[in-house]
Amino acid sequence: MVFLLAWVVRADKVFNVRAFGAVANNKADCSKAFLNAWKEACAWNGISTVLVPKGTYLVGKPTEFIGPCKGFMNFRLEGVLKAPTSLSGFADTWLKFGYLDGLMVNGGGTLDGQGRSAWQPCTPKCKILPANLRFDFVKNAKVEQIHSVDSKNIHINLYGCQNMNLSSLTIVAPGDSINTDGIHTGDSTFIYIEHSKIGTGDDCISFSTGSKNIYVTDIICGPGHGISIGSLGATHDEDSVTGLIIKDSTFFGTDNGVRIKTWASSVDNFVQNITFLHLSMNNVRNPIIIDQEYCPAKNCDNKSPSRVQIKDGPLLPRLR
Ligand SMILES: *[C@@H]1O[C@H](CO)[C@@H](O)[C@H](O)[C@H]1NC(C)=O
Ligand SMILES: *[C@@H]1O[C@H](CO)[C@@H](O)[C@H](O)[C@H]1NC(C)=O
Repeated sequence: MVFLLAWVVRADKVFNVRAFGAVANNKADCSKAFLNAWKEACAWNGISTVLVPKGTYLVGKPTEFIGPCKGFMNFRLEGVLKAPTSLSGFADTWLKFGYLDGLMVNGGGTLDGQGRSAWQPCTPKCKILPANLRFDFVKNAKVEQIHSVDSKNIHINLYGCQNMNLSSLTIVAPGDSINTDGIHTGDSTFIYIEHSKIGTGDDCISFSTGSKNIYVTDIICGPGHGISIGSLGATHDEDSVTGLIIKDSTFFGTDNGVRIKTWASSVDNFVQNITFLHLSMNNVRNPIIIDQEYCPAKNCDNKSPSRVQIKDGPLLPRLR
């Protein structure tokens, strides 16, 4: 009886996107089929697997896999997903997982953002371009063995996430592509990023406002701009960045290794308890750089110094 009960609660069910009309011909738009598979899987009270079998699928629209769901969700991507080259109908997202507690994304498949036509020089004002993959308000999740290629913007973006492990990822875009950060976090805590290879035209990993307790281990980074904290200090609604450990990683041919960047003439904020450990730099211009007059467009008001403190020591309560 106890055994039966356990089986009832934990029953697995596979929702193959092909059963929902997805066709692996890289022509028919599969976004509707993916969403229909997700909807049924999300309503299933057990461990649900949305399966994308091998093959190449066009996902031609912004596609958001939103919870909360009844049970644990597994998105098993074995195939290749292609974004359209056109930007029509897109804002900041191609694929997104949102409002989930208990998620696994794996399968060895590929997200191809087909970003080449979107990479245009744009400082200081850039058009909004879609990230390959967003996680918004996701808790207790693993993302493993996924390839992300040529995103039009950031490859993988985490916002409002908690307890997520990202491992064995490969993230690739040309060294001259624009704003193609590998992984970007904001307002996220207890994030583990491990055993991954990231080479793009921007930061391999970047941590913005509210990134806390993040552990980065065994990353191969390059080409790109390195691993960055910031930029911070531009606006009043920013939170601090605290408790980051970046270790056992190797940089090849990047502009920077590890970097902290803050604006001058800025608002109060702080960066605290950051550890850089066992990092190997090969052909890296600035292995460690702390820039408190960050100014990518070279037209900044640097009259007063940055008010973003970079400090060590025990965490003090935020006074604001
Ligand atoms: C992520 O990894 C850490 C350290 O190995 C572990 O403590 C945590 O439970 C893991 N979280 C998930 C969601 O797998
Ligand atoms: C510093 O950050 C690390 C990593 O998140 C954390 O384990 C440690 O407790 C933090 N130390 C203090 C004093 O907050």
